[in-house]
Amino acid sequence: MAIITTRPRGTLDKLPDDCVKCRAVENAALDTAAKYGYREIRTPVFEHTELFKRSVGNTTDIVQKEMYTFDDKKGRSLTLKPEGTAPVARAVIENGLLNDALPLKLCYVTNCYRYEAPQSGRYREFSQFGAEVYGADTPLCDAELIALAYDLFNALKMPDDCYKIEVNSIGCPDCRHHYHDALREYYSRHLDALCHDCHERIERNPMRLLDCKSPECGAFKESAPVILDYNCDACNSFFAQFKAGLDALNVPYTVNPRIVRGLDYYTNTVFEFVPKSGAVFGGGGRYNGLLEQLGGAKTPASGFALGIERIISFLDTFGNNTKCGNTPDLYVAALGESAALFTFRIVHELRKREKNAHCDIVGRSVKAQMRYADKIGARYSLVVGDNELQNGSAVLKNMINKDSVEVALNADDIIAQIEPV
Ligand code: HAM
Repeated sequence: MAIITTRPRGTLDKLPDDCVKCRAVENAALDTAAKYGYREIRTPVFEHTELFKRSVGNTTDIVQKEMYTFDDKKGRSLTLKPEGTAPVARAVIENGLLNDALPLKLCYVTNCYRYEAPQSGRYREFSQFGAEVYGADTPLCDAELIALAYDLFNALKMPDDCYKIEVNSIGCPDCRHHYHDALREYYSRHLDALCHDCHERIERNPMRLLDCKSPECGAFKESAPVILDYNCDACNSFFAQFKAGLDALNVPYTVNPRIVRGLDYYTNTVFEFVPKSGAVFGGGGRYNGLLEQLGGAKTPASGFALGIERIISFLDTFGNNTKCGNTPDLYVAALGESAALFTFRIVHELRKREKNAHCDIVGRSVKAQMRYADKIGARYSLVVGDNELQNGSAVLKNMINKDSVEVALNADDIIAQIEPV
């Protein structure tokens, strides 16, 4: 029995107060993105498995260990999306969106699924806000993306000194060849201590050695070669102009030459949003090869995603989250049958006028109705019985300061006495 009253491991129930926080972050993100010209896109919750193998990369932890993959009834392999970038790139190609004005700017809020070991801030179902730009191969495009994220962090009132914007450049595929050689050379000296997966990574994709989660392999990261030492002149100049773009907008950042990101599609700029304590709450970068790799036209692209649950728990650490949502404005209690129908009708009218109004729909006594009004936190209450109906007026009580005032029983007069929240 317990299994049906227990949620699956690594998932969250978002209760009403949590939903208010999610909404606040999602709305702030979508509104900020809109200012920068991003339009919303929604893609399916599952995609062909091959999409993620080709984009995120066959040797990444996500593809090797974390995907929720299943066969449908016709034997097609499908996967719940572990991230939002590949599905949006697929949708852009499939729907011919690159024929629109370029650069094309798209954003999304989506649930993602990764079979990871659950811990604080790491779930098997989580949600991301993401922003992606197609058709701009410039350092300023990357700087603008980070400016968007920084603008959002300010809108959410995140203090600058509580997190860092860490940036790096992982070069182009040519720089990568030299870097791969250096990593192979370094890690071959520690072969005996590496996990089974890393033995394969040395051959197939040495950069993935740097984000292996096993503690034995992690110990070698600190002294491993860093990619910035292997980037070509053109990539170095791109990185310098990107940083100049951030400086021009007064966006604070730190260069962290160890950021390589855990997905294979990145080229040049990469970055992460790192809180002083707690899990990295966002990251992204340029991915110039992805669209072509998926069968689309060669198109430069760049983007980032933020983990909404991680942003919320970060905001919680300094009490910046919206505490509650819709506080009920008014509870209209009814005494007697005719009053019950009257309250039913007036409450409906008040709702049409944007008031959050309630009345009894379960046949409770007036005393029980008032207890309920108290429990839901109604700001005002009104009790209507036969006398009030006859007089056409009733006493409106402010439930917080206990003031009361006589009001005529019509929506206009009631609304006139309700102070805005
Ligand atoms: P990512 O770094 O894998 O990048 O994920 C982005 C964010 O999603 C993370 O920084 C984190 O906040 C959140 N996240 C990831 N895994 C979990 C988890 N298991 N539980 C809770 N939150 C999690 C991407 O997904 C790329 N698609 C970002 C991107 C967009 N790059 C270019 N465009």
